[in-house]
Amino acid sequence: MTTLITGGTGLIGACLAEKLLSRDEPVVLFDLAAAEWRIAPLRVHGDRLQVVRGDVQSLVELLDVVRAHGVTSIVHLAYLLGVECNTIPERATRINVLGTLNVLEAARLSGIERVLLASSIAVYGADEQYSPAQRPLREDVPLHVASGLPIYGGGKLFLEHVAATYAEQYGITTGGLRPSIVYGWGRERGTSAFTGELIDRTAVGEPVRVGFGDARVSVVYVEDVAEQFLALLDADRRVLARRRFFNTGGDTCTVREMAGVVKRLIPDARIEVTSAGERDIAGLPASVSDRSLEEELGYKRTFTPLEAGVRAQVAVARARAGLPPLPL
Ligand SMILES: NC(=O)c1ccc[n+]([C@@H]2O[C@H](COP(=O)([O-])OP(=O)(O)OC[C@H]3O[C@@H](n4cnc5c(N)ncnc54)[C@H](O)[C@@H]3O)[C@@H](O)[C@H]2O)c1
Repeated sequence: MTTLITGGTGLIGACLAEKLLSRDEPVVLFDLAAAEWRIAPLRVHGDRLQVVRGDVQSLVELLDVVRAHGVTSIVHLAYLLGVECNTIPERATRINVLGTLNVLEAARLSGIERVLLASSIAVYGADEQYSPAQRPLREDVPLHVASGLPIYGGGKLFLEHVAATYAEQYGITTGGLRPSIVYGWGRERGTSAFTGELIDRTAVGEPVRVGFGDARVSVVYVEDVAEQFLALLDADRRVLARRRFFNTGGDTCTVREMAGVVKRLIPDARIEVTSAGERDIAGLPASVSDRSLEEELGYKRTFTPLEAGVRAQVAVARARAGLPPLPL
């Protein structure tokens, strides 16, 4: 069993890699800009960890890596994140849309049995686009695409449809997650960058200023997302034939409330929260259910309520900075 993770040195990929390596499974991380600073601790696993610099825009590079390493399953995470896509739509579309197609083609041409992909809650709309009876959102509600993320979210809709096509046409087991806003150490980009500001920087004693104070968000800790991908890698293929994409779910709060959790854990944290009255971030929903994962795969999030995940991330941030743990 060798798993190829595209975008594998990113936030979610590195965490998933750590879990696979801990089960003694070989992992290949395929990434355009291999973030050695993030994956350095994984090097203790020696040759079971392979890092290959490559671009999902190239089918040839994907085929080469799949064949050279005897890859048996793929987790496709490489993607350009968030509102950045609006300013570079052509590049974003090539990476996000063509890249996804290339990953599935590489799987088809190489006889890979399972491809998991990261969709997003950006396929939904903001909470107010749904009736109270539809919230928290389950996977079968109408998909409007978050208003502030047309290229990013539109690409995720394509990703879900093309994943279904490859399952139906070629018998590949495909599926994945619709993650809420993922927080975890080292989050510097995308719509979730505010969580890195809030947690990583205050954990090491730096002052921070975050916006969107009154915006409501659904946030999930990276360890839970990695465990959920693991559960999907292990799942019977019939589970994914019944439902292809599962919400990760998350804890619902405002950015200000998240700052309050950090402040409770680190009383001398210097956090300034500002607000221009936004009710959401980029039109993302804040009320998202993880019941399907629990009912259909038996996965219950470990890092909930929010404080549990924040506490874990503060510990990682301190350790990475070579600082002693806080008495949390
Ligand atoms: N972080 C979140 O809040 C969140 C929420 C919902 C969905 N997701 C999805 O989860 C996936 C992983 O997110 P993440 O938070 O780990 O992101 P990340 O930015 O930390 O990691 C993405 C990785 O992809 C790599 N990459 C970018 N373009 C590439 C290319 N052309 N070829 C190869 N690699 C390339 C980047 O170098 C980076 O290491 C993405 O598909 C993202 O859309 C993330």
